[in-house]
Amino acid sequence: MFYRPEDGHGLPHNPFNAIVTPRPIGWISTRGTLGDNLAPYSFFNAVAYVPPQVMFASTSAKPDRDGTKDSVAQLRESGVFCVNIVEYAARDAMNATSGPWKAGEDEFAMAGIDKAECETIDCPRVASAPASLECRVTQIVPLEGEANFAVFGEVTGIHMRDDCLSEGRFDVTRFEPLSRLGYRDYAVIREVFALKRPGE
Ligand SMILES: Cc1cc2nc3c(=O)[nH]c(=O)nc-3n(C[C@H](O)[C@H](O)[C@H](O)COP(=O)(O)O)c2cc1C
Repeated sequence: MFYRPEDGHGLPHNPFNAIVTPRPIGWISTRGTLGDNLAPYSFFNAVAYVPPQVMFASTSAKPDRDGTKDSVAQLRESGVFCVNIVEYAARDAMNATSGPWKAGEDEFAMAGIDKAECETIDCPRVASAPASLECRVTQIVPLEGEANFAVFGEVTGIHMRDDCLSEGRFDVTRFEPLSRLGYRDYAVIREVFALKRPGE
């Protein structure tokens, strides 16, 4: 089948985010005048090495925030955010933090998630995450459509859980990374293989 987005897909559910899969999940923590906030974003990725940079995108708005969601509203105030990596063991806690909770609700407390302080920025992080990336906001880019924003950040500090390191590598076989598929589906990484690039 083929469709143009402006004509509609005619399917029971939008297939778009089932096509762009699997996606990593950035569990974004922020601190603002209303307190601490934590929410998952799968329109998320790393975008550069030197300096290391990441992005995530927020779509649609909450009625109690000015044209966006809590995460973007908070990082607009503070100029910083932290990306926490999600493992299979944290799937229910992560999901609990995705609810439409009112501005000022601390999802760490609500979902029983242990909080730690970041080192390079004034921001909370998920204490037990396999890795966390402390970020300084570099750009907030309004995207086509209503309440769509891409947030770019430069990574200023990197935490890796000690048990996720083996033989000098950040070893994804140690923690079962979670990724987002379409609809209500997720995937967990339990099998890893290597490929040599041409010329290596
Ligand atoms: C796994 C997962 C991935 C999500 N990815 C996104 C995303 O990329 N962009 C987005 O705007 N919302 C995404 N959401 C929905 C937000 O988490 C949800 O709207 C949340 O309430 C936003 O929280 P905040 O207002 O505290 O920032 C996702 C939800 C889940 C469960």
